[in-house]
Amino acid sequence: MPKNNIVLIGFMGSGKTTLGKMLADKKSMAWIDTDAEIEERAGMTIPHIFAEYGESYFRRLEAYIISDVSERALPAVIATGGGAVLNRANMDALARKGRIYYLDWPWEELCQHIRESGPRPLWDFDAPDPEARIQSLLVQRAPLYRRACDQVIDCAGRTPDAIAGEILEDYGRAEGGHMKTIAVIHGVNLNFIGIRETSVYGSQTLAEINRGIERHAEEIGCAVVFFQSNSEGEIIDFIQKCWQERVDGIVINPGAHTHTSYAIRDALAGVSIPAVEVHLSNIHKREAFRRRSVVAPVCVGQICGLGPLGYCLALNALTKDMP
Ligand code: DQA
Repeated sequence: MPKNNIVLIGFMGSGKTTLGKMLADKKSMAWIDTDAEIEERAGMTIPHIFAEYGESYFRRLEAYIISDVSERALPAVIATGGGAVLNRANMDALARKGRIYYLDWPWEELCQHIRESGPRPLWDFDAPDPEARIQSLLVQRAPLYRRACDQVIDCAGRTPDAIAGEILEDYGRAEGGHMKTIAVIHGVNLNFIGIRETSVYGSQTLAEINRGIERHAEEIGCAVVFFQSNSEGEIIDFIQKCWQERVDGIVINPGAHTHTSYAIRDALAGVSIPAVEVHLSNIHKREAFRRRSVVAPVCVGQICGLGPLGYCLALNALTKDMP
């Protein structure tokens, strides 16, 4: 599984949000703050969730959100709440597709950040000795952060820019930094592959074909994201999203839209991401209307008639440096 997410873990006050936004911006990656997602999903703030439903309810919600965001297709910078590390399953989910960085701060600096940033769910400013309680939490969690991460980032006395620089350098060296992301788009009626005209398209379902593509992507070391829709507009939206998310290449089987959709053609031309058109069947051996593709002229190439193998060959082509 390609690990091209950047995951930030650490104690409250570690600057995960500031740093995460900065990294996402620098790498043009999606930005996910799991605490913000929890608040959005629950429709209330985290202090409010703690007060109303208690910590264990919050932790269940957190685990659900983390497993959800860990499975998202496009590479992202993900910042987690300070206590996410308490649940081993959270860290396992994040590690599947991500390189995990622990932001390690000295206690005094953390304290200062927390005091500056105002109330937190587990920080009771009115308690007799709030710092002692929080310090004991840190002592308990620090070994968990260390165990869960791929890389400890020593943040003592450093600026966010310097910390971001170190993370990006490491990420660049690790596989995620070099790995290309290829979007595989299945167009109209391809969700019915395995059911429709099996003598023409074969009996593998789309899920089986995608699993084969995913295995091949792993072998050649690229990340792959899948999209299927029967709607021309949704396919165009996704192609534009590929541009926003800096996807490196597109493999597209537009189905019958191949022969008619100037809109999909324009979308591909507009994003200027190298694209390869793939067809399971040999469209040149079939009805006359299938022999013409309006999409192929804006692609670097077309592969047809080789069944699911065509998708893997397209991945090979797109992971080489295209002219
Ligand atoms: C297809 C060929 C198209 O002509 C047809 O409309 C499809 C599938 C293929 O993969 O062979 O839906 O794209």
